[in-house]
Amino acid sequence: MIKTVQPANSLIGELHLPPDKSISQRAAIFSLLHDGVSVVKNYSPAQDPQSTLSCVQQLGAEVEKADGQLKIKGTGRDGLKKPVKDLDCGNSGTAMRLLSGVLTGAGISAKLIGDPSLSARTMKRIIDPMEAMGAHILARNSQYAPLFINRIDALKPMKYELPIPSAQLKSCVLLAGLFGDEPTQVIEILPSRDHTERLLNLDQKMVQHRKIISASREDVIPEQSYTIPGDFSAAAFWLVAAAIQEKAELVLKNIGLNPTRNALLDILKDMGADIAIENEHNEGAEPAGDIVVRQSSLKALDIDPKMIPNCIDELPIIAVAMLFAEGSSVIAGAEELRHKETDRIMAMAKMLKAVGADFEEKEDGLIIHGNPDFTFEQATFESFHDHRIAMSAAVLSLKSRKECKIRDAESAAVSYPGFWEDLGLVAKG
Ligand code: S3P
Repeated sequence: MIKTVQPANSLIGELHLPPDKSISQRAAIFSLLHDGVSVVKNYSPAQDPQSTLSCVQQLGAEVEKADGQLKIKGTGRDGLKKPVKDLDCGNSGTAMRLLSGVLTGAGISAKLIGDPSLSARTMKRIIDPMEAMGAHILARNSQYAPLFINRIDALKPMKYELPIPSAQLKSCVLLAGLFGDEPTQVIEILPSRDHTERLLNLDQKMVQHRKIISASREDVIPEQSYTIPGDFSAAAFWLVAAAIQEKAELVLKNIGLNPTRNALLDILKDMGADIAIENEHNEGAEPAGDIVVRQSSLKALDIDPKMIPNCIDELPIIAVAMLFAEGSSVIAGAEELRHKETDRIMAMAKMLKAVGADFEEKEDGLIIHGNPDFTFEQATFESFHDHRIAMSAAVLSLKSRKECKIRDAESAAVSYPGFWEDLGLVAKG
């Protein structure tokens, strides 16, 4: 589907954003592992969380949908069923990587499949530790889905230092560890999103600036009854859209504010954005609040590479902010972006090129020479079937002089099914 986006003169309104994708997917998987019923309020209707939900149903969870909430009856760790069909993870790396940990731990044999984008993303990072824990995994070219997972040998708990700061990898190893008689320890050097350790209430300690998280059969898997907050990664598009737009004021209601996720707030504030947080509270184990953002004058920023894991999904839209900031900004140490739903460094470079921006593409990031008065006539953007690229292109389109077109715009539904309606609500020409 091609979407046409008109230039905007103002962005005003209040938005209720989709429920957090990462937390929704964990709520489904952890409810499966909980021995009892969880009532999850505000589960995400987006494609990725729905893929995860249908996988956990195949593994034995009983799901009832009523009044905007899900009642999930889990099987407990020992009651998981062998699925009769392939587990289809759709576009979701989180589903494929976290479920690989569950299958390895439980010793259930199954085949995990994904769409063409997911089948082109390396799974080597989880195959290695899962095989070290006793799994046998057959993968296309030894690293791509479909994955056939099986474990005949005994589960081998282990001490695992994360070679990359990835929450999916961390969660995969911890989930397998939950089935072990001895603890599995994951050692994290740079913090990545910590929803798994929070929602499972796992033991965590800091030793010489490294976080050590432990999981074993001793851990009771808590009931997952809570309300899922709005997705900070969805809020990111509006934070940047309003900061670079004249006559802008947006109120984003009940957004997840987990500190391992929201480095974008610090980045935008350091760039000079007018952002305020109101009504801070907790939604279960996760902090949340309303965010108010207004038109701002942005200046350039070099992002500290240590912050990259805490804004990894927001980097495409950060690149758009940088284009409208005074001076040269740097994103470095972000090679991981080349392994997302698409190669996001390539995709952003193509987007910036389409509008005639002054920038340099690096192997691990971008240097963007910005200008608050930057504008362009019109453009047709490729989204490479990547939800975050499609939505970044939409925000950029609001700053054009004539209408722009975005290809494969339906991909926004992977995380944000109502994105195009919300755009129509707040953007005025
Ligand atoms: C996610 C972790 C991140 C992120 C992805 C969701 C998660 O991936 O990019 O969108 O839910 O754990 P990595 O763990 O591969 O960095």
